[in-house]
Amino acid sequence: MLKTRIAVFVSGGGTNLQALIDAQKSGIIKSGSIELVVSSSPDAYAITRAKENGIPYAVVSRKKSVSQEEFESNILSVLKEYNIQLIVLAGFMSILSEDFTSRYKDRIINVHPSLIPSFCGKGFYGLRVHEAALAYGVKVTGATVHFVNEVPDGGKIIKQKAVDVMPDDTPQTLQKRVMENAEWIILPEATEETANKIANAGDSYERIRN
Ligand code: GAR
Repeated sequence: MLKTRIAVFVSGGGTNLQALIDAQKSGIIKSGSIELVVSSSPDAYAITRAKENGIPYAVVSRKKSVSQEEFESNILSVLKEYNIQLIVLAGFMSILSEDFTSRYKDRIINVHPSLIPSFCGKGFYGLRVHEAALAYGVKVTGATVHFVNEVPDGGKIIKQKAVDVMPDDTPQTLQKRVMENAEWIILPEATEETANKIANAGDSYERIRN
């Protein structure tokens, strides 16, 4: 069976990218292979992780693009070049339009650092999510992996994992616990599940609308 060709989209530190690379090495991800890293920032440490692991990478900056259309068309050309079948958003901080998400219907997954539908949608990303959870006073939070559609954090849920909030948590300590105990576990699992479905369906890149 041919492995599903995966691109991982990043914007920052890339610890979730690292979890995916480690999961591929340990065999948790076996139905897919990471063929490309797309970074929205030239300074993302995630790029160093790609380099260290011999994974090709492309930097496509929203700021340097004149429009959302140009930004997405640059991303689409590199995805085409690498025949990408599955996109994993791993700390990718740019919004993708409906035009883009509909081309890769059920082939884009995202990790979000809360239990959706809490603390999600526009404006909820990175540390802000944990700040909001602490401000609300929830005692349990977690992470969600979901399919990506045109609604921010609104696609079908694939996996969730709960994490306890501790009384003396700061946004930073909570973020770290959610990453270690939830994100780095469920993102590789969901990636394998989705890659496996695509590989089994014998879907090729050609089915994706260009
Ligand atoms: C992760 O916590 C991820 O869930 C979050 O950003 C962090 C990226 O860390 N993503 C979002 O908030 C998306 N809405 P990383 O670069 O170390 O993987």
